[in-house]
Amino acid sequence: MPSLNSKDRIVIVDFGSQVTKLIARRIREFGVFSEIITLKDLHKIKYYKNIKGIVLSGGPSTVTKKNYPSISKEIFLKKIPILGICYGLQLISKIFGGSIKSLKKKREFGRAMLYKKRGSLLTNNFFFKKNISVWMSHQDAVSKLPIGFHTVASTKDSKLTIIENTKDKIYGVQFHPEVTHTENGKKIIKNFIFSICKAKKSWRIKSEQKRLINEIKETVKKDKVICALSGGVDSSVVALLINRAIKKNLVCIMVDTGLLRKDEFKYSFYIFKKKYKLNVKLVNAKNLYFKKLKNVSDPEKKRKIIGNLFIKIFEKEAKKTKGIKYLAQGTLYPDIIESKSVTGSHSSKIKSHHNVGGLPKKMKLKLIEPLKEFFKDEVRILGKSLGLLNKIKDKHPFPGPGLGIRIIGSVTPKKIKILQEADFIYINELVKHKLYNKIWQAYAGLLPMKTVGVMGDSRTYEYTCLLRAVVSEDGMTADYFNFPKDFLDKISNKIVNGVPGINRVVYDITSKPPSTIELE
Ligand code: XMP
Repeated sequence: MPSLNSKDRIVIVDFGSQVTKLIARRIREFGVFSEIITLKDLHKIKYYKNIKGIVLSGGPSTVTKKNYPSISKEIFLKKIPILGICYGLQLISKIFGGSIKSLKKKREFGRAMLYKKRGSLLTNNFFFKKNISVWMSHQDAVSKLPIGFHTVASTKDSKLTIIENTKDKIYGVQFHPEVTHTENGKKIIKNFIFSICKAKKSWRIKSEQKRLINEIKETVKKDKVICALSGGVDSSVVALLINRAIKKNLVCIMVDTGLLRKDEFKYSFYIFKKKYKLNVKLVNAKNLYFKKLKNVSDPEKKRKIIGNLFIKIFEKEAKKTKGIKYLAQGTLYPDIIESKSVTGSHSSKIKSHHNVGGLPKKMKLKLIEPLKEFFKDEVRILGKSLGLLNKIKDKHPFPGPGLGIRIIGSVTPKKIKILQEADFIYINELVKHKLYNKIWQAYAGLLPMKTVGVMGDSRTYEYTCLLRAVVSEDGMTADYFNFPKDFLDKISNKIVNGVPGINRVVYDITSKPPSTIELE
């Protein structure tokens, strides 16, 4: 079985751009394995085989000041093709004797029109028309070409927008070809990995399945693995994968927190126990959760209570099962990248995410994270090849603290019931109108402030339901979804008529940033 290490790969050196992950995704979409690496870990690449190309990402730093993040010139001596994007281009230019200036008044954020100056392997079939709209996000620009380089394309405000040194196979682009706002941007990535790096397509999610199952078998041997199964995409795929490898030695714990969507817990339990025949243990903890959450309205306190209680319950259940040595988690590749500090800068904590973190240390279990090399869409493909039902495979992401953070303020069984009913109507209508799979995440939230309404001839004084629907690539940024007015009318009617306790429906039209996807 070929290991991951034997595959052709493109290494992306991360300088802290918000969209570095997209570069990795785009490359993988073309069937070539890609890996993001921090500057701190860069020395490790000497142990890698088969590096076919290196991408230097964008980032918030500037080479016009002292102490900018850089790489050693030695990397360029290895004759591995290199592509610098935005900051990456500026760094290449700086290293090879070009000049970089801060544009100040002429900085480019958003779209710019790019025009061709000369042909290049990098831009083959990219200029399908005279001017291409590209996505820029920079203050600095290369003002003097580095030695040995040519200009391939320009915009009005930054003349050296694509540059190349074909002899040494070093390329740089000022814009972001990895974002969808750049027209035809995928062509640049494709040309780089195939025409310039000559990488072979060897990344197929389906065939990764065999490798993963073998690795789990070899690691776990005759020991037992425990896993928290929520019925979401990630934990479901982890459970099915490990079950293929070690069968009954996988023990799945399902905790009913009372904070899941309507009927979801019952459905997941049934499917995993009856259809997939997994070894599932059920824990009913609804009352305990409601008791602990009584009168708590601070979002962070709610998150902590829900997370800590989960750990306690899970620990207790694990102790009841003899011989557990491993804990399986559905950690994804973006989680791994996000947890590494890229340039040493500190970002502010927006929310404490609850993902059963802290468990392995406390329980002295070894961790297995079979999905840690995968993006969410890749996990879905893996799920499909393991026979995961579409209904689970295509489920929108659901936060660890569940409906607990979709009710503003204190959580009660009554409010949960109201919210579950509204959410059920909303999600079913999305499915019925074939909108569900066009949306990255949708849910109903409860704003438990009361307002006056009128139904029939009577006055009502009830809660407000907030509807959210966003499109996104990875949840880091998101745009609200543009529903047809008819659809919003219909949903509003159905919810107000069908859910006692709600007399007003609002649609959230904020993007992330400045909002977040969840309410708390
Ligand atoms: P925000 O609200 O931060 O959410 O824009 C981004 C994505 O993360 C999900 N989310 C969570 N997922 N545990 C999770 O596993 C959590 O505590 C948590 N909080 C938010 C959210 O649903 C969205 O997909």
